[in-house]
Amino acid sequence: MRSSSSILFFFFFFFRRKYQSFFLVQTPSKPDRQTPTISVAMISLTELDDDTVRSMSIGAVFSDFGGKINSVDFHRKDDLLVTASEDDSVRLYDIASAKLLKTTYHKKHGTDRICFTHHPSSVICSSVYHLDSTGESLRYLSLYDNRCLRYFKGHKDKVVSLCMSPINDSFMSSSLDHSIRIWDLRVNACQGILHLRGRPTVAYDQQGLVFAVAMEGGAIKLFDSRSYDKGPFDTFLVGGDTAEVCDIKFSNDGKSMLLTTTSNNIYVLDAYGGDKRCGFSLEPSPSTNIEATFTPDGQYVVSGSGDGTLHAWNINMQNEAQ
Ligand SMILES: *[C@@H]1O[C@H](CO)[C@@H](O)[C@H](O)[C@H]1NC(C)=O
Repeated sequence: MRSSSSILFFFFFFFRRKYQSFFLVQTPSKPDRQTPTISVAMISLTELDDDTVRSMSIGAVFSDFGGKINSVDFHRKDDLLVTASEDDSVRLYDIASAKLLKTTYHKKHGTDRICFTHHPSSVICSSVYHLDSTGESLRYLSLYDNRCLRYFKGHKDKVVSLCMSPINDSFMSSSLDHSIRIWDLRVNACQGILHLRGRPTVAYDQQGLVFAVAMEGGAIKLFDSRSYDKGPFDTFLVGGDTAEVCDIKFSNDGKSMLLTTTSNNIYVLDAYGGDKRCGFSLEPSPSTNIEATFTPDGQYVVSGSGDGTLHAWNINMQNEAQ
C-alpha cells in the first residue's frame, strides 16, 4: 500500500493547441525537496505514433520554484506558458527558448486557477484569500506592468475552473458556490449565470460556439454559447461513474471530450453522441487531482499520476503507449 506521504509529485500535462509540441509541468508536493519544478519536453511533428510517444523525454527544466503549482495555461498562439503557484506567484515562461520571463506576486488575493486572455501578457486569475470580505474572486491581470485591470465580483466561493473563449472577450468560471458565470473581459458585471448542483466544471469547444458543463452524478451538459439561457441542447450521462468530474476538455478537432474524475478515472467521450469511447484508470492519489489532456492531434491522452510517472494512451487502440 502506498501511503499519501510517499507521493512525491504532482503532474500537470498540457499540449499546446497549435503545434505538435509536448510539455509537461511537474511539481513536488514538498516545497523543500530539491527537485525540478517544471519540465518541458518538445517534439515538432505533424503526427504522433506510439514510438514517438514512447521516446518523449524531458527537454528543459525550470527549477526556480519548488512548491506546488495550482494551475497552468498555454497561450493559444504565442510560445508562452503561465503558472499560478501556492506562493501566490504568477510565472510567465517563454517555452520556445525555455526561459522564465517574469514572476509577479499577488499576496493579497493569492493565485489559484489561471488562464491567458488573447493578449500575451494578460491573464485571468482566481483568488484564494478574502473571498467573503472582498468578493474579488477573479482578477484580470496585466503581467507586463503588474497591474490589476479589473475585478470580477460575483462568486461566493472558490473558483474551480476557468476558461477563455477562443474567439472573443467572453470567459467562464465555475465555482464551489454551485454556479457558472459568464463574463466579458471589458465589463465588471457578470453577463450570465447558471445554477447547478455539485462542483461544476466548464470548458469551451475550440470554436467557442459550444460549452460543456460537467456536474454531479456524471452528467455532461452541452450549451450553445449564444443561447445558454435556453438551457442545454444535449445531456450525456457517463454511466457507472458517479465520482465528480474535476476537469473537462475538448479535443482540437472537436470530436472528443476528455473527462477526469476525482477518483482518477479518465474517459474519452464522443463529443456528438456522448458515447464512451474509452476509459483509463490511475491509482488514486489522495492528496491531489490529476489532470489529463489530449495531444494536439486528438489521438492520445496523456496524464501525470501521483507516483510521478507519465502515462500516455492511444485512444484508437485503447492501449497504454508509455
Ligand atoms: C462571443 O461569442 C459567442 C458565440 O458567438 C457569443 O455568444 C458571445 O456573446 C460573444 N461574446 C462577446 C463578449 O462578444
